[in-house]
Amino acid sequence: MNKLLNETYTMNNGLKIPKIGLGTYKLTNEEECMDVIKTAIKAGYKLIDTAKIYDNHKTIAKALKQCEYKREELFITSKIWNSDHKYEDAKKSIDNILKELDLEYIDLLLIHWPTEYRLECYKAMEEAVDEGKVKSIGISNFQKNHIEELLNNCRIKPVVNQFELHPALKNLEVVETCKNNDILVESWGTMIRGKCFDIEQIKELAKKYNKSEAQVCLRWAYQLNYIVIPKTSKPSRVLDNINISDFKLTNDDMELLNKIEQFRDGPDPDNFNF
Ligand SMILES: NC(=O)c1ccc[n+]([C@@H]2O[C@H](COP(=O)([O-])OP(=O)(O)OC[C@H]3O[C@@H](n4cnc5c(N)ncnc54)[C@H](OP(=O)(O)O)[C@@H]3O)[C@@H](O)[C@H]2O)c1
Repeated sequence: MNKLLNETYTMNNGLKIPKIGLGTYKLTNEEECMDVIKTAIKAGYKLIDTAKIYDNHKTIAKALKQCEYKREELFITSKIWNSDHKYEDAKKSIDNILKELDLEYIDLLLIHWPTEYRLECYKAMEEAVDEGKVKSIGISNFQKNHIEELLNNCRIKPVVNQFELHPALKNLEVVETCKNNDILVESWGTMIRGKCFDIEQIKELAKKYNKSEAQVCLRWAYQLNYIVIPKTSKPSRVLDNINISDFKLTNDDMELLNKIEQFRDGPDPDNFNF
């Protein structure tokens, strides 16, 4: 087993989160999703990252039933979709997520995007912690201003912020805000959603270490202490992508990656409309 899969960070509530998990965005084909989840769990993955909007909760539940695992060793993350952020809707959504995943509790629940109703959504999430439906709560795609606003208005501190973060979007202001407030940083799109294969500096390091561009990006994030959740629909890549223990990026390598022209692949959290 890849030993990295047993590594964890401790969250600000004292609970642990795996450093590496499996992303499941766009894994909607039932057979493909089942295959990848089963391969990942068998290989030792503990963290599965899903969301209401990914439309695969039920398939993930079905796949997990076919695997051998101890519930307490698994770490399931889901997210409340933007249209459910009003207080009552958020409460219903939490129950619905639990039902779809067929779980007694969710390990980590996130607000998917910082909509105008984010604070009432968060209140419903805090109550879900009190009720034992959720172990930890966090945020996703929150910018500095959203984080500061929430910290001034919450009872339970978010443990994690999950946002677009890769060598072509270093997002330093958000990273710093999270670090200063003891919120763990979780990178989505670490492999630049497949675009890492086209970037010269990443290609150069892949060649230098005889690794893939995906592995270079994941190593970059791992060395910076970001949680990663690489997604693939190909069982063969589930383990290959995280085979990143046998090389280390040097300061010069990091400098080279710093030269990559920055761009955002996903929506801008300050200007989205969905
Ligand atoms: N909170 C949010 O708003 C948010 C937004 C986006 C994503 N996420 C989460 O973060 C996870 C990761 O982000 P992401 O899925 O957007 O991007 P990603 O993990 O950076 O990249 C996934 C893409 O890379 C391809 N890929 C993976 N390994 C590869 C390899 N070895 N060679 C070639 N192509 C490869 C995949 O294609 P194949 O499937 O064909 O391998 C897929 O198209 C998501 O799945 C989701 O769980 C969260």
